[in-house]
Amino acid sequence: MSDKQEVVIGIMDPNSFSFRAALEGLLHHIDREIKYKGKTYEVVPRRIVSRPYNVLGAKTSCSVILNRGAHWNPHHNSFFHLVMPHSYMINDMVSFKSIDKNTSYGHMHELGLHIPPTWAIPQADYSKLLESDRVDPDLIFPDYELFDLAAIGEEVGYPSYMKPQDGGGWVDVVKVNNVHELHDAYHKIKDKPVNLQKAVDYKEFVRVVGVGPQMMPMHYNAGAEHSHDRYLRSEETAIEHGFLPAEQFDEVCKITKIINAFYNWDHNSCEILVDHDGVAHPIDFANAYPDSNVTSLHFYFPELVKAMARWLIFIAVTGRKKPLFAQYWDDMLKIKEKAEKKGWSYKQKLDAYAEIADEAFQTKEFDKFCKEQLAHFEEQAYHYFASEAFDSIIGESVERYFKFPHEWPNKKMHYKGIHHFWLHCERNRLCISLEEEVEERSTAKADA
Ligand SMILES: Nc1ncnc2c1ncn2[C@@H]1O[C@H](COP(=O)(O)OP(=O)(O)O)[C@@H](O)[C@H]1O
Ligand SMILES: [Mg+2]
Repeated sequence: MSDKQEVVIGIMDPNSFSFRAALEGLLHHIDREIKYKGKTYEVVPRRIVSRPYNVLGAKTSCSVILNRGAHWNPHHNSFFHLVMPHSYMINDMVSFKSIDKNTSYGHMHELGLHIPPTWAIPQADYSKLLESDRVDPDLIFPDYELFDLAAIGEEVGYPSYMKPQDGGGWVDVVKVNNVHELHDAYHKIKDKPVNLQKAVDYKEFVRVVGVGPQMMPMHYNAGAEHSHDRYLRSEETAIEHGFLPAEQFDEVCKITKIINAFYNWDHNSCEILVDHDGVAHPIDFANAYPDSNVTSLHFYFPELVKAMARWLIFIAVTGRKKPLFAQYWDDMLKIKEKAEKKGWSYKQKLDAYAEIADEAFQTKEFDKFCKEQLAHFEEQAYHYFASEAFDSIIGESVERYFKFPHEWPNKKMHYKGIHHFWLHCERNRLCISLEEEVEERSTAKADA
């Protein structure tokens, strides 16, 4: 009998091609036999598909499940919550369903992060609600207080952004410059509760993606017309290394790690606007389904896939348990009180919160695990991303994402060109020679 223990990683992401395909490809490519604390584990990736299940006997063989998109699919969502006592869920919907932008702005302000002035405003239009035969207008309307929108506009200040409280993808986000535009925007948005938030005049827009304790700050160009071009530095330059000074880089990583630990979010993105005085303002950081497509992330894509693979393997092999919802709230709030008493600076506070976040994410154990159990992961991942299999994922992603076939050749050249630059940087970082890569490729071909 084999003394190897199989640990299954379940992957569910029917809405995006490249992330799931590359993650599965990478997990199949690397050495999945891992020795940990005297035992041998065999890591087995398995795609989770939609099918009927017996509610009263629902089980999963997965030690960890990567859930991308169950919030749009009640069938998956209920199954995942059903088996959650037996499996680690990335991301679970417990916190993402209840904590939206609005709530998290308030909490993070309380911790001392620099959230711009923000007011929550109930919806303008209740006609949809009134269509329901369960709603009695006589009971509903006395519950809503009349308010002075113009006074809220004055208090927040102009320009400001009106955005749905539970929004995403820039849907119904409007910049308003004066009270007239504020009224217009409010009445156009109709039946959604909104936030009105002071606009930040920024010099750098940073989007940080966190996977467990791993933080990846990326520059973001909100002015680009198409969302897939926004992670490019400019029209001429795909990527700028060191676009943030070291201290600011550290700060945006800590901010994101603190938010993610506070809410138990294993995979989340945090948009931070750094103003002209260097103050970092988080403005959008509750994202249950961060954009993870190669057609958006280009250079950043392999690192994100690697980060997810490392985190999934760590959880599956070590049997990490997910902290309870709100488990670290008290500890974080105690830091806040202590900081007030002792007159700590913002940086001192951030460092103290980050220590708790590191505890929540087991950062030390994770780093040690990567060093010891995943000692060859970096090289193996490099060879996967240099393979023809990954090259064809880029090609297929372009064909799936861009609707007009005449665009495909240029787009493929664009993304493959950036990827070759990533491979070049990785070869330098890992001291891999080009000959070694060619040799690896011909071995892979011979094995196929
Ligand atoms: N306070 C703000 N200051 C400056 N720009 C903002 C602000 N809030 C939103 N924006 C702009 O609007 C975009 C969409 O707003 P965001 O809060 O990120 O909503 P969504 O969840 O739809 O992405 C942001 O990416 C940014 O370009
Ligand atoms: Mg956003």
